[in-house]
Amino acid sequence: WTAPLAALVLGYLLGSIPFGLLLTRIGGAGDLRAIGSGNIGATNVLRTGRKGLAALTLLLDVAKGAAAVMVARWINPDYALLGGLAAFLGHCYPVWLRFHGGKGVATLLGIALALSWPVGLVYAGVWLTVLALFRYSSVGGMAAAVSAPVAAALWSEFEMAVLLLALMLIVLWKHRANIERLLSGDEPRVGQSVGQSA
Ligand code: G3P
Repeated sequence: WTAPLAALVLGYLLGSIPFGLLLTRIGGAGDLRAIGSGNIGATNVLRTGRKGLAALTLLLDVAKGAAAVMVARWINPDYALLGGLAAFLGHCYPVWLRFHGGKGVATLLGIALALSWPVGLVYAGVWLTVLALFRYSSVGGMAAAVSAPVAAALWSEFEMAVLLLALMLIVLWKHRANIERLLSGDEPRVGQSVGQSA
């Protein structure tokens, strides 16, 4: 049981690195949790006006999800899904931030790409297309999360579709404040500032 535990712990630790929070702090842009939506993801880093830091946050949040899957797969090919699950939970519920983590969209892209690249490509395609159409980061992310279990059911294994379905539910739950703002017309489009903390 030590091997699956190692995949779980390493995946969680990788996922729990709050790159957005660390980069904005190191970059002198303040505490991300006191800015915009208060979220630790790349969209909120962008609200600090630091495009480079936002791009780096996106890249590193994707990379840690992929890395967790690859480390778990290296321990044992059967543990890839476990590593992905652990990284996702680490990002969304990091012990370092008293379990108040991110919303999972970028990390889930990395996990999907590493588990099955066609599923990851669908995810990225849906994300970018919906973002380009509506200019709401949250809508793009949620649409991508919804597409993931469907893509996995069509082109990958049943177990992966089940995992992505569970992670999709967490992504939607994590966006509940965004959904409320979308319904009330208060959700800022990318590039606009957010009026309230959530
Ligand atoms: O991935 C997070 C994004 O979907 C929404 O971020 O800061 O607008 O709540 P935010």
